[in-house]
Amino acid sequence: MKRVAILISGGGSNMLALVNSMTGDHPARPVLVASNDPEASGLRRAEAMGIATAAVDHRRFGKDRAGFEAELLRHILAARPDILCLAGFMRVLTAGFVAQFEGRMLNIHPSLLPKYPGLHTHQRALDAGDTQAGCTVHEVTAVLDDGPLLGQAQVPVLPGDTADSLAARVLVQEHRLYPAVLRRYAAGDRTPILLP
Ligand code: GAR
Repeated sequence: MKRVAILISGGGSNMLALVNSMTGDHPARPVLVASNDPEASGLRRAEAMGIATAAVDHRRFGKDRAGFEAELLRHILAARPDILCLAGFMRVLTAGFVAQFEGRMLNIHPSLLPKYPGLHTHQRALDAGDTQAGCTVHEVTAVLDDGPLLGQAQVPVLPGDTADSLAARVLVQEHRLYPAVLRRYAAGDRTPILLP
């Protein structure tokens, strides 16, 4: 059974989708939900499901990113995860941190990468006049929102869409895609999943 730690920064709806999927014959189980924000409501949701949580407030560390990451790493390593899932984790991780989990860290990003790495993905898709948007799950490397593709799901951009309406449509697909990828990944299968 693979042990999965999940990093969040906010509501954690993707975290919930992952946790809820890890039952029965699933090859993995959640062992930790950690956040850079002690107020992240996803932490409360994880606690309510009986999952161990940790909060390391990045604001306590100011510009000392190494200090923040060392503290976060301490919590993560104590949980002995095989796989680390970033699920709406909004801090950029250094190459040194990423190296600790090379080949076993996943991220979900709300765009069809390589389009729109970084922030404001939905507004950028609208501004570009794209007719398709979506989300991507990829292996994390030291390059932001880069790394081997593990899955993508597409949604149409509809007339009158705002960044919020598009984000909501994409999020529904995120909740399908990430669990599907994690299930395969935990079983050792890295073949990309493409959802229509
Ligand atoms: C999700 O849309 C996720 O793809 C995005 O943040 C949201 C978190 O929602 N992640 C990023 O933008 C990472 N750069 P959630 O907390 O409800 O899962």
